[in-house]
Amino acid sequence: MNQQHQTESCPATRPRRFYDCTLNEKLLYSSFLLLAGIAYMMALAYLYTSFDGIDGKPGLSVEDVAENYYGNRSGTRLESALRGSMASYIEIEDRNHVVEWLKSGAPKAGYERVIKPIFDERCIACHSAVSGLQIPDLSSYDGVKQVANVDTGVSLHSLMKVSHIHLFGIALVALGIGLIFRFALLPAWFQHTLTLLPFIAIFIDISAWFLTKWDPTYAYTVIFAGGLLGLSWALQIFISLYQIWFLRCRVEVTSEE
Ligand code: HEC
Repeated sequence: MNQQHQTESCPATRPRRFYDCTLNEKLLYSSFLLLAGIAYMMALAYLYTSFDGIDGKPGLSVEDVAENYYGNRSGTRLESALRGSMASYIEIEDRNHVVEWLKSGAPKAGYERVIKPIFDERCIACHSAVSGLQIPDLSSYDGVKQVANVDTGVSLHSLMKVSHIHLFGIALVALGIGLIFRFALLPAWFQHTLTLLPFIAIFIDISAWFLTKWDPTYAYTVIFAGGLLGLSWALQIFISLYQIWFLRCRVEVTSEE
């Protein structure tokens, strides 16, 4: 029964190609591909302007990407003060405790246990409301927080927001472009690989966003996968557009099976 079903439904004809499409289909596909290409360019321009110079230097760089997701964890006003103008007020050992606490994200628990005793002894003579000086108030957690904010990059919450929007959006666009690209006449292995690539690339890219939050070296993966997505879409779009308008059916073509 199953056997019979298979032989009956197996198509003996060759797959459809672009040259089998009606003019109406060709116009539809071309318009979609062109608009998708423009949309991708817009996305790149937007990406460039929002990442450009995060690290203070012009141009989009690995450091910009790393700093966007990972942040710049070496820089708090408190740490630079302790290594600079305030260095003489604190013992090296105490300073190391403070720096460690800053690196761990300056949590409240650690403040009460480790930091407050140090600051109460060494800093608040000057750094509290009573001193009358216009300098950071280091007598409370809230005051210390003002100069202890570590830049840990984009928050997990907004990362999840951007991720799911990207996954849905890019999956749909990849489906649209891929549905058109399937009519291309190419070696099967090449066509299959190129069809899968955008999906794989976006999965790697978005996973790497999260990994970069944890370790800035993954910024390279973010850029590599982003490039892979762009390249595979560019190939699908150019090959499709070319074949839609220029590839002709050879008359002597015989059935493939
Ligand atoms: C003798 C008074 C005095 C003591 C003690 C003191 N500071 Fe200061 N602190 C100052 C003054 C004055 C300034 C503002 C001028 C400056 O930045 O040098 C300042 C500035 C700072 C700033 C702000 C720097 C910036 O980025 O604007 C921080 C942070 C700081 N101190 C931390 C500390 C810590 C931590 C301690 C204790 C280990 C400490 N200070 C001990 C007087 C003091």
